[in-house]
Amino acid sequence: MTISSLTDTFTLNNGVKIPVIGFGTWQTPDGDVAYQSVLDALKAGYRHIDTAAAYGNEASVGRAIKDSGIPREELFVTSKLWNDSHSFEAAKIALDKSLQLLGLDYLDLYLIHWPNPLINRRNWDKANAETWRYMEDANTDGKIRAIGISNFQIEHVEALLKTATIAPMVNQLFVNPSDLEKDIVAFNNEHNILTEAYSPLGTGSLLEVPQINDIATKYNKSAAQVLVRWSLQHGFLPLPKSTHAERIEQNADVFDFALTDEEMTALDQLEGVAGTHQDASQADF
Ligand code: A2P
Repeated sequence: MTISSLTDTFTLNNGVKIPVIGFGTWQTPDGDVAYQSVLDALKAGYRHIDTAAAYGNEASVGRAIKDSGIPREELFVTSKLWNDSHSFEAAKIALDKSLQLLGLDYLDLYLIHWPNPLINRRNWDKANAETWRYMEDANTDGKIRAIGISNFQIEHVEALLKTATIAPMVNQLFVNPSDLEKDIVAFNNEHNILTEAYSPLGTGSLLEVPQINDIATKYNKSAAQVLVRWSLQHGFLPLPKSTHAERIEQNADVFDFALTDEEMTALDQLEGVAGTHQDASQADF
C-alpha cells in the first residue's frame, strides 16, 4: 500500500479506518501545553489523537478538539484504561470518565494500557478477561468503535484470546529502531492486530544517533522524519509526540521521500542503541 498523506488510513480487522499517523500526547502536560499542541496538530492536518487517562491531559485534549471546529466524524480519538480499572464495573466507570473529560460521546479506539499492573500481578489474566468483556460490550454498543491493548507481550495476548469473543484490533507498543519488539510484532501481524508505535523517536533518545542523521542528511530531512518513515515502512502506525508547532508539522511531513531496503535494514541493526528496552512483564506499576 502506498501512503501519501496524513489522512490516509489503515483498516483495522473490524473494518474501522484509522489515520496512518497519530499525534502522541504522552508526557504532554495538562492545561495550555496540551491544549495548544493538540490545536497545532489539528491545524497541521493530523486527524488522529492519542491520549490516555494516565496522561492526565484528556480535558485539555478535549477542549482543543472542540475548539478546532473539526467535525467529530473526521477525527480519530484514542484513550486508554488505567491500571486501577481492570474489572468489568471499573472499566465502565473509567470509560465514562474519559468520555466526560474529553467531551465526547464515543471513542474511536480504547486500549487496556498495561497487561499486568502491580495490583493484580497474580491474577492479571482473569482481570484482563473481565475488563475485555466490558470493552466488547461497549464496542458492540458503539461507545467505542475499536478496542485494543497496549504493552501486551505474546503471553498476555494469548491469555486474552482464550476468552475473547472479539479479538483486539490494535496493540500499541514502544517500538523504534532501538526496540524492535520482533516477537510480539510478528505475533500481531499473524493475528491481524495493527501495531501502533508509541515513542517512535525513542522519546527523543534516537535523534542524535549518527547513522540516523546520515540517512536524514541524504534526503534533506530530520532524524525525526526518518524515524517516522521507518515506522510507516514497517507497517506500524507511529504516534510522534511534540509540544512545538514546527516539530509537529515536521513529523507529519514524511510523504515526499522513502527509505530504501538497505536503509531500513541498517536502521533495524540499531537495536539496543538507545538503551531504552523495557520488559512489559516487569513494569513496576
Ligand atoms: P518536544 O515535545 O519538546 O518537541 P517520542 O514521540 O518518541 O516520545 O519523542 C518525543 C520527544 O522528542 C519529545 O522530547 C519531543 O520534544 C521530541 N521531538 C519530537 N519531535 C521532534 C523533532 N521533530 N525534532 C526534535 N525533537 C523532537
